[in-house]
Amino acid sequence: MSDPAQLHQQLLDTLTAGGRLRTMPWKDAAAAVQRHEFLLGGFFRRVKGAVPAAWEPVLGGDDDWLATCYQDESLITQIAGTIVPTDIQGQIMREPTSSSTLPSLVLRMLEDLHVEPGSQVMEIGTGTGYSTALLCARLGASRVTSVEYDEDVAARARTALARQDMFPSLVTGDGLLGCAESAPYDRIVATCAVRTVPTAWIEQTKPGGLILTTLGGWLGASELARLTVHDDGTASGPLLGGQVSFMLARPHTPPPLGLLPDLSRGKEREAVIGPDVLSDWATRFVVQSAAPQAQRLTMNREGSAEEVLIDVASGSWAALYDDSGRWVVRQDGPENLWDSIEEHLGRWHAAGTPALEEFTITVTPDRQSLHW
Ligand SMILES: C[S@@+](CC[C@H](N)C(=O)[O-])C[C@H]1O[C@@H](n2cnc3c(N)ncnc32)[C@H](O)[C@@H]1O
Repeated sequence: MSDPAQLHQQLLDTLTAGGRLRTMPWKDAAAAVQRHEFLLGGFFRRVKGAVPAAWEPVLGGDDDWLATCYQDESLITQIAGTIVPTDIQGQIMREPTSSSTLPSLVLRMLEDLHVEPGSQVMEIGTGTGYSTALLCARLGASRVTSVEYDEDVAARARTALARQDMFPSLVTGDGLLGCAESAPYDRIVATCAVRTVPTAWIEQTKPGGLILTTLGGWLGASELARLTVHDDGTASGPLLGGQVSFMLARPHTPPPLGLLPDLSRGKEREAVIGPDVLSDWATRFVVQSAAPQAQRLTMNREGSAEEVLIDVASGSWAALYDDSGRWVVRQDGPENLWDSIEEHLGRWHAAGTPALEEFTITVTPDRQSLHW
């Protein structure tokens, strides 16, 4: 059997060399927490080459499992909201719903959280409890509150943390509501993504405190943001860059598409911008902020592929297809989705396509806005 201490040290060296582990107190905390202790139930490994993605279980206990626990990789621990590695043999093709985030991202975020000795921290998304344990090692368990949506996931994290003699305040529930009982906090860190920053988080953070969260959405673009909470109950701050993505907070996942509208109706025009731009991360983020309710799907209509954006709440949709080298858009519904997207992208292009790190997010009790 390999030596976990040696594997752990190799991971710490990699994180330090890569600039993810930057300061002594976090180096000490990372050295104090062994990741495999939070993955004893195993994880799911992605099956190479499988499209759509398929997963197979790797059970805890052997050398392969132990070595992978100390790779800088996210390890999926729950699929489809209930299934854990011991539940299946063979492969499964459903969405991951809980994981142990890759250590370099966990530690980058903890460094970016700028905690100080004595900081009270709330974490959203306990998951395996690994990042919770790092917070406990750094600040002391009495200063850490962690909220997990899923009861079974929360129960496993509680057991894993207790095995390490760590007893933070663990709450099972919707982290979008925060946890008023232990508020106010100096810092909030989310290890799931949100479409909008919940007002409860702002209300539960002390003025001058920080909220570190990934802003995600239904077009699959996301970025990390660090907001400072102000005296007047608003919060604002920069996006931090790095193409950070997390699974969306469960109440923020997209609604079912339902019965699709008749996509043959609608007005057609030549598109100024085609959907091919969506393959670029920053462009997709800008498009997502212009059409936050839109979901994307590819349809095959009359033998040719169409990229469809649809807002199921309003019924607005846009379908785009390539007509011998020019993009054509067909739209219908209360809003011309692709018109709004082209207008928004046009303003971003006119400003010189600023990088996402140059964006600022502002959240007031009524709205969330992004500026560049
Ligand atoms: C990427 S995992 C967390 C990784 C974890 N920090 C770790 O180190 O293992 C995201 C977690 O967020 C949880 N989650 C999703 N929506 C949530 C919500 N609204 N409130 C609290 N937790 C949520 C998921 O169940 C999942 O366990």
